[in-house]
Amino acid sequence: MRILTWLQATSDQLHIGNYFGAVKPMIELAEKFKDAEIFLFLAIMHSFNNIQDPVALRKNAINVLKLYAACGADLNRFMIFNPADVPGHAQLNRVLSCITNMWFMERMHTYKEALDKGKTKEINIWVFCYPILMAADILLYDTDLVPVGKDQKQHLEFARDIAMKFNNAFGETFKIPKPYIQEDVGLIIGIDGRKMSKSYNNYIWLLDDEKTILKRVKQIPTSALTVEEPKNPDECNVYKICKLFLTPEEDETLRKRYQAGGLSYKDAKEYTYEKIIALVQPIQEKYAKISDQDIIDLLAKNAKIVNKIATKKIEDVYKKIGFSL
Ligand code: ADP
Ligand code: TRP
Repeated sequence: MRILTWLQATSDQLHIGNYFGAVKPMIELAEKFKDAEIFLFLAIMHSFNNIQDPVALRKNAINVLKLYAACGADLNRFMIFNPADVPGHAQLNRVLSCITNMWFMERMHTYKEALDKGKTKEINIWVFCYPILMAADILLYDTDLVPVGKDQKQHLEFARDIAMKFNNAFGETFKIPKPYIQEDVGLIIGIDGRKMSKSYNNYIWLLDDEKTILKRVKQIPTSALTVEEPKNPDECNVYKICKLFLTPEEDETLRKRYQAGGLSYKDAKEYTYEKIIALVQPIQEKYAKISDQDIIDLLAKNAKIVNKIATKKIEDVYKKIGFSL
């Protein structure tokens, strides 16, 4: 069985929200599907929807891969690659575009959302056609399963529809992929209680030093309740962050301490700080041992492997539609 998934590198850092919302689920996916091949592509081309800095793009991608590896993603277990190394993505995108009707793309929610936000002038052709590239990504590799959030279900349905349309017209060519709807991890909050995001300056980076992490944890606002007063953990941002790091037993104990009264926010913050450090320290040690060149070499090696698969598929497609003479 082959699974295709992706990772985003929109900055050269990862924060705790990224860790619990993207990195950990990916590691768990590999554990759950032990025997599956997992193709993991870097969404470099996919986020290119405006003029952007090429130096930063490269740096972000390499660093994020180093961070994934440092977090425990076994880079030999995942077939990590850069679609920009594989011309098949663009080639299949081109072919699928020819059998996709405009009205079909007009129904896609990402495009409709951009319209609803009044971004008519900013929407480029790329945003409009995005689901076609996504379909090409998937179909190129005879993918069986695609982990997607609920928001991507429509795109996956499009990939299935277009594969069937092609198969019906030209004969069995593409495998019909199935969605694997991942459990919603929910939003991880930042130190101000909003969604942790690099856009809000409310994050804790996995590579932050101890001093910075302590400062950030101390900044989490708390209520005016005294130490003695019982507290509702579910209303406390310190608890909401802390619980991410706890075993069910530790969680139970902490909840009881909140509810019983006698727990100071200072102690709750100290405990949270220690838990964060216990997570990030080994990550930082591992990170320091991985070089940029390790990642570049891996991508080059994997590009050869995936290109073989992709080229075979494109040859089949070109033959079926009569492009190859
Ligand atoms: P940011 O919001 O900081 O710009 P990105 O959009 O680059 O983060 O997110 C990269 C990945 O991390 C995405 O898969 C996203 O779902 C996940 N992620 C980001 N922030 C959070 C969060 N606060 N809680 C859960 N998951 C998150
Ligand atoms: N559109 C997906 C998202 O935003 C990312 C994506 C692009 C993707 N191509 C894909 C996901 C192929 C799975 C398979 O979540």
